[in-house]
Amino acid sequence: MVEMITERLVLRRFLPDDWKDLYEYLSIEEVVRYEPYGVFTKEECIKESIERYEAEDDSSFWAVCLKENDKMIGHIYFQQTDPKKFMTWALGYVFNPKYYHKGYATEACKRILQYAFEDCDAHRIVAGVNVKNIASWKLLERLNMRREAHFLQNVFFNRDSYDKPVWNDSYRYGILAEEV
Ligand SMILES: CC(C)(COP(=O)(O)OP(=O)(O)OC[C@H]1O[C@@H](n2cnc3c(N)ncnc32)[C@H](O)[C@@H]1OP(=O)(O)O)[C@@H](O)C(=O)NCCC(=O)NCCS
Repeated sequence: MVEMITERLVLRRFLPDDWKDLYEYLSIEEVVRYEPYGVFTKEECIKESIERYEAEDDSSFWAVCLKENDKMIGHIYFQQTDPKKFMTWALGYVFNPKYYHKGYATEACKRILQYAFEDCDAHRIVAGVNVKNIASWKLLERLNMRREAHFLQNVFFNRDSYDKPVWNDSYRYGILAEEV
């Protein structure tokens, strides 16, 4: 995994010590509201950081850090989907709310798209997002990704008190190498 530098950020592999910064945002209910998991405990963040550090396929999670002090302010998930011959990667991201509305997520994701098309020879990047997650799909549109689909009730992460799935509507976004 290569390190990537932008104007204000460094995108690098996770380090075991990143658990503190990870815990700072994954422990917040609001941050994980649209994620397929709940809030993380301190112990889970320690385990998660070590796993991301040790992962053989080390390109899935990128720690996004401030250039000035190496503070990890968020992370990007970026993984090739199956079948591999379609040369498609899925994009995801979670940032610390203390650093929202500063363009950091946009800056980091733009660098990932550049990496995808220039270094990975990607044909297509896709992202799925809850229709209610406006900040997230606005970010995808800032990246010039196209809304390709509006799925009705295609996914659920929780069940209600009657054990029925709580279905969510979602958008899928995509961008092709030739569109950049
Ligand atoms: C999705 C998420 C990363 C978006 O964060 P964000 O702060 O809105 O995105 P950015 O960091 O790119 O900031 C963009 C905003 O900063 C503003 N901004 C300020 N300075 C800027 C700069 N130098 N460059 C670009 N934008 C700048 C933009 O105008 C934009 O403002 P707006 O929100 O009023 O439109 C964040 O909401 C998040 O982590 N959510 C929780 C996890 C989550 O839901 N992940 C997605 C699951 S699908």
